[in-house]
Amino acid sequence: MTSRIFVSRDSTALAFGADATARAIEAEAKKRGIDVTIVRNGSRGMFWLEPLVEIDAPGGRVGYGPIKAADVPALFDAGFERGNVHGLRVGPVEMITFFERQERLTFARVGLADPVSVDDYRAHHGYRGLDNALAMSGEDIVKAVTDSGLRGRGGAAFPAGIKWKTVLGTESAQKYIVCNADEGDSGTFSDRMLMEGDPLCLVEGMTIAGLAVGATQGYIYLRSEYPHAHRALNEAIANAYAAGYLGPSIKGTSKRFDLEVRLGAGAYICGEETSLLDSLEGKRGQVRFKPPLPAIKGLFGRPTVINNVITLASVPIILDRGGDFYKDYGVGRSRGTLPLQLAGNLKYTGLVEKAFGVTLRELLYDYGGGSYSGRPIRAVQVGGPLGAYLPESQFDTVVDYEAFGQVGAMLGHGGIVAFDDTVDMLEQARYAMEFCSIESCGKCTPCRIGSTRGVEVIDRIRAGIERDQNIVVLKDLFETMRFGSLCAMGGLTPDPVRSALQYFPEDFGVRA
Ligand SMILES: Cc1cc2nc3c(=O)[nH]c(=O)nc-3n(C[C@H](O)[C@H](O)[C@H](O)COP(=O)(O)O)c2cc1C
Ligand code: SF4
Repeated sequence: MTSRIFVSRDSTALAFGADATARAIEAEAKKRGIDVTIVRNGSRGMFWLEPLVEIDAPGGRVGYGPIKAADVPALFDAGFERGNVHGLRVGPVEMITFFERQERLTFARVGLADPVSVDDYRAHHGYRGLDNALAMSGEDIVKAVTDSGLRGRGGAAFPAGIKWKTVLGTESAQKYIVCNADEGDSGTFSDRMLMEGDPLCLVEGMTIAGLAVGATQGYIYLRSEYPHAHRALNEAIANAYAAGYLGPSIKGTSKRFDLEVRLGAGAYICGEETSLLDSLEGKRGQVRFKPPLPAIKGLFGRPTVINNVITLASVPIILDRGGDFYKDYGVGRSRGTLPLQLAGNLKYTGLVEKAFGVTLRELLYDYGGGSYSGRPIRAVQVGGPLGAYLPESQFDTVVDYEAFGQVGAMLGHGGIVAFDDTVDMLEQARYAMEFCSIESCGKCTPCRIGSTRGVEVIDRIRAGIERDQNIVVLKDLFETMRFGSLCAMGGLTPDPVRSALQYFPEDFGVRA
């Protein structure tokens, strides 16, 4: 009997040596005359176990990890290909506490099968949403997405259904679906994991979006730093074309949808939707004035749906199970689930998909296991480089867009970066301001000049030069940037600096 052995092709697993592990398993099996099939799956998101090797055992999938190439002969000695006991056996993978307590809707398939195989995709409920959508009108598809309560997962949390409705209602001979796969936020990797681990889910979501609004062409704008996601997407798209799920006649119907990947050149501002569109058109990525909204005049001046990877990848399950099913998860106006990314100084880092409503403290301690260093967690930055730093007193904040807004923070793309008590928060504040000065697109003065002056002011505070006066100047600059900037890059940069000053004044040499 052939044993199926799963070794992830995800970037994190590769960074830990998954390719060498897979090669060692293949060579050792050949040497011993054991029949094995190695499937390169997506990662389950438990990074401390990578490379995680999984076996199809009678009672379900059993894992071993982390497995280096050198561990492989001993694994075969133990008979791991039959699920036998070994020191690195972690048991049934989906019963590992970190995994078991998740609510995986968008990531339900990641890690289960070959990510680019259409047959595997179908075998795990793939393309059911598209099957339904093909029999629905555009209005009904948009209604299902609206009813689900899905809000954009790229950062701004704008309701997806409203955006789609605008594009549907705008007359044009050509419309576009653009996927924002720039994923520039620090500490975020859910887009990447989805694209590497279940790219067909994104392909399906974009195809459904095309059917909904009447768009026949889609583009995935992918950051160039994601070569493994690039490969997986291209393989998945080619396989979807070959199986008749993309092209002039989707599954033999009169509906058309074409899709291709375009690479960005590595500017943070190209994640902002209008800069992204300029970049996609071959221009230097610079923020456009709004209005007109991209939904009305977007790519090449045509109506365009632009959504984040996770937003679009959440659509297939909504069309499969219905808007009400998705809406049942979550709290308040934050419906469904959010793939949270645990990073920084945590014992267990990785991806946790949970319904909105979980607290930051639960994520840091129940999932993350506390700090990696064993020291107290002092600060957490949520939502990327423009997100506020939160102290321990705010750890009971619930993962909910509105709850985060109430404490002057934002959920953004769900990245959570933890720092222990050795962190210098003045240094972090300087870093935030400097990041803006480096990444500013330069179109407006408060951001372009303000961020450079901001770094200088912070440096003077650090050097103890007229500290009190410079803090007044810094607070004044916050207002100028917040209210005077053209986009959220300059508008939100004060947030990490302000929160560092508010919650950790001692690091700035001032009393609370
Ligand atoms: C400076 C800046 C960077 C951004 N970077 C990203 C990004 O990397 N990925 C993303 O999906 N959205 C990013 N956004 C948000 C997009 O402008 C836009 O809101 C999003 O693509 C809309 O998709 P959604 O509604 O599905 O979230 C960024 C916004 C700003 C202001
Ligand atoms: S705020 Fe910054 S990034 Fe945004 S338009 Fe102005 S200069 Fe460009």
